[in-house]
Amino acid sequence: MPEVYNWQLGRKMLYPYEERHPKWQFTFVFNINRCLACQTCSMADKSTWLFSKGQEYMWWNNVETKPYGGYPQFYDVKITQLIEQVNPGGQVWNVRVGRKHHAPYGVFEGMTIFDAGAKVGQAAIGYIPTDQEWRFVNIYEDTATSMRALVEGIDKTGFSRDEPWKMTGSSLPEHETFFFYLQRICNHCTYPGCLAACPRKAIYKRPEDGIVLIDQNRCRGYKKCVEQCPYKKPMYRGTTRVSEKCIACYPRIEGKDPLTGGEPMETRCMAACVGKIRMQSLVRIGEDGLWAEDRWHPLYYAIRVEQVALPLYPQWGTEPNGYYIPPRHSPRGYARQMFGPGVDNAIEKYLVPSRELLAVLQLWRASQQIIFRYDVIPGPKVFETQIHGKRFEMYNDTVLGFNKSGKEVARIQVEEPIYIRPAERVTWL
Ligand code: SF4
Ligand code: SF4
Ligand code: F3S
Repeated sequence: MPEVYNWQLGRKMLYPYEERHPKWQFTFVFNINRCLACQTCSMADKSTWLFSKGQEYMWWNNVETKPYGGYPQFYDVKITQLIEQVNPGGQVWNVRVGRKHHAPYGVFEGMTIFDAGAKVGQAAIGYIPTDQEWRFVNIYEDTATSMRALVEGIDKTGFSRDEPWKMTGSSLPEHETFFFYLQRICNHCTYPGCLAACPRKAIYKRPEDGIVLIDQNRCRGYKKCVEQCPYKKPMYRGTTRVSEKCIACYPRIEGKDPLTGGEPMETRCMAACVGKIRMQSLVRIGEDGLWAEDRWHPLYYAIRVEQVALPLYPQWGTEPNGYYIPPRHSPRGYARQMFGPGVDNAIEKYLVPSRELLAVLQLWRASQQIIFRYDVIPGPKVFETQIHGKRFEMYNDTVLGFNKSGKEVARIQVEEPIYIRPAERVTWL
């Protein structure tokens, strides 16, 4: 098997195909801390692409309640356990190597799904969820669960009491219970497990934007993609006998929606987000396969400069292109097993944001057009305080967002403007 470089792991890894990269990569950042689980994103996606016979159980976008929930149920526990069985106790990060451009989170010394797959004669390690596991899209919705109850709950369902929950050794200092929402779509991975797995070579990654698609004409329904995507995002459709997955709303990315006059537009699930937790863009990939330096790109800034947003389960090795601002109110150990060793830094940055980060965070949902560049116009200081012993100053800066053609499409201030409705518009007078 060839070796490819995975910068999220800080090292090379096995992958069935030679390294090749798109010019631009579909990338997104979800801010977990702002999500209200209204499921507007899920419904926007469902009503656009998933309303036909055979698609009833399909939710390309889903929002699950962690730690207990998952769609399909326990996919994260199961994948983690499958790798642990092949590599017991070895799933560790070496963070002593320091932060570098090609290894920003340190070096992962454990096994990816591809390393573990090689041990069992597969492209990647995986499993096919049962029909029962696909039954509930947000089981345990809004249920705060203690670690003890969680372990007991898992035990009742027949899972081992051991890893991975216990390895986190996690609990909150104040109380044991917690929950948060995890928003999930296909990560349009750099090294997709689904693509690696398909014996028909029916899955491809577009060179222009890195979007991963299943060719509906080539697919013969072998379901290896369902088995070997660790995030469980390809879904089999019984009526057509082929699999389907999130298509990143590619006509919108291509600027085909008349609303933006030919300019790239964010996907349905992003644009519909009520909590303003989602931002999506395309990042430029350099000759070496790494992200090209792009200091004034809002997602480059958030992910590579501030490192406030982190990949989901980077240790699985697909180099997912979905990033998350991790939850402030979850046990750190639990968050670390989910987002890797960058969690403490990311939460610190989010709790006490720099002046620039605070401004850039205002761009989340400021425009339906994809923002490729930002700029900040300085404003006056409006507030200061101490947070966790650190000085925090707030400036009413104005942040500007520009589309692919360099046209201004967003202008928003840090301090939310207040409009007072004129007396003649007040209905009860
Ligand atoms: Fe494929 Fe799964 Fe990655 Fe999507 S998340 S590209 S379906 S491996
Ligand atoms: Fe659905 Fe588009 Fe969101 Fe994918 S990007 S989950 S196709 S709305
Ligand atoms: Fe390939 Fe998945 Fe279809 S493995 S043949 S794309 S069901």
